Amino acid sequence: VSASSAPVVGVVGGGQLARMLHQGAIGLGVRVVVLDPDPQCAAALAGAERFDGAWTSRDDLIAFASSGVDVVTFDHELSAPDDLQALEAVSPVPIRPAPATKLLGQDKLHQRRTLSAAGLPVPAHAPVSAAAEVEAFAATHGWPVVLKAIRGGYDGRGVWIVRDAAQAAEVLAFAPNLLVEELVDIDREIAVMVARRPSGQVRAWPAMRTTQVDGICTEVILTAPSPIEDAAAELTRGLAERIGLTGVMAVELFVTGDGKLVLNELACRPHNSGHVTMDSCVTDQFEQHLRAVLDLPLGDPAPIVDAAVMVNVLGGPHPWGAAGLGAALEVEDATVHLYGKEHRPNRKLGHVNAIGASVDEARERALRAAAALGSPRPDR
Ligand SMILES: Nc1ncnc2c1ncn2[C@@H]1O[C@H](COP(=O)(O)OP(=O)(O)O)[C@@H](O)[C@H]1O
Ligand SMILES: [Mg+2]
Repeated sequence: VSASSAPVVGVVGGGQLARMLHQGAIGLGVRVVVLDPDPQCAAALAGAERFDGAWTSRDDLIAFASSGVDVVTFDHELSAPDDLQALEAVSPVPIRPAPATKLLGQDKLHQRRTLSAAGLPVPAHAPVSAAAEVEAFAATHGWPVVLKAIRGGYDGRGVWIVRDAAQAAEVLAFAPNLLVEELVDIDREIAVMVARRPSGQVRAWPAMRTTQVDGICTEVILTAPSPIEDAAAELTRGLAERIGLTGVMAVELFVTGDGKLVLNELACRPHNSGHVTMDSCVTDQFEQHLRAVLDLPLGDPAPIVDAAVMVNVLGGPHPWGAAGLGAALEVEDATVHLYGKEHRPNRKLGHVNAIGASVDEARERALRAAAALGSPRPDR
């Protein structure tokens, strides 16, 4: 049997998301090729083909798109928007999501402006480059305020809560062009994962409840339907249409103390908030992303379990070893997903999905398995 008729998805970057895209591709008979300079990248270690090159090189991006892949998509946000625009102009195959759409997840100022121009609820915000501008913003919106990197932030790196002008000046001294935002009174954080294929079909999973500790996502709960979560899913479906999304997108939202929805950020790719779909929904985010970028029929995002919780496995003080893995695998109804990455304290090394009759039961199982792998117990 020749593999030549199999669709080939090119993924820029070979991290854990590309690794799990490869995992999802196997059952579909799809080939995944990653653009990554590292032969030991997480996707290549799992058997994905690798095209040697750098996502920061315009030439390498163009060579990759011309190497026989059918579509180019992404593991991360790290390619420069200008390079992606240049790639799109000459690429023989579609770039999905399109660079102009992807930019919404790469540039938080552009994102805030686009979403607020569309009438969507976002925090009050302004670009700033001097403490006096932060002070002027705080005069209207109150201290503390949130300072954010416009580009390149993730896992809370690039987010600072500051209480006064002196603290703002300290941050601006090493990060001179930032976004300032009002500190939103957050009751809870949720995320909605949605998929759209180029020919127009849109499907969203139920909203996920997410927990961030020091800006890092530690825990995700598949929620039971409720009016505000359903409204968030509806808003996200509309947004996917408005921006012409192709592929999967994560939209992070705040539910405020007075019960309103505020959009936090979005990322046009599979996302940590969607890992829980792997063991709890008819179609998971990785298979759905492949279907979407290949313009194949989207799968059903409906849950197939009563409750599911994902807990990230962050590096503990020591690697877990065989005993740790064994203890994690003893936990009933928990599924371990490890990324093959080298151990480093606090690095995201994997995640555990657990199911149960209730959220509490599922969470207890997921936490127990993650703890067996040495992950510091999230302090909540
Ligand atoms: N305007 C805000 N008000 C209150 N908390 C915020 C605000 N912006 C961000 N946060 C907190 O910081 C976390 C990380 O911010 P986010 O913009 O999502 O950055 P990252 O790209 O690192 O995920 C959020 O999940 C939330 O807990
Ligand atoms: Mg975030």
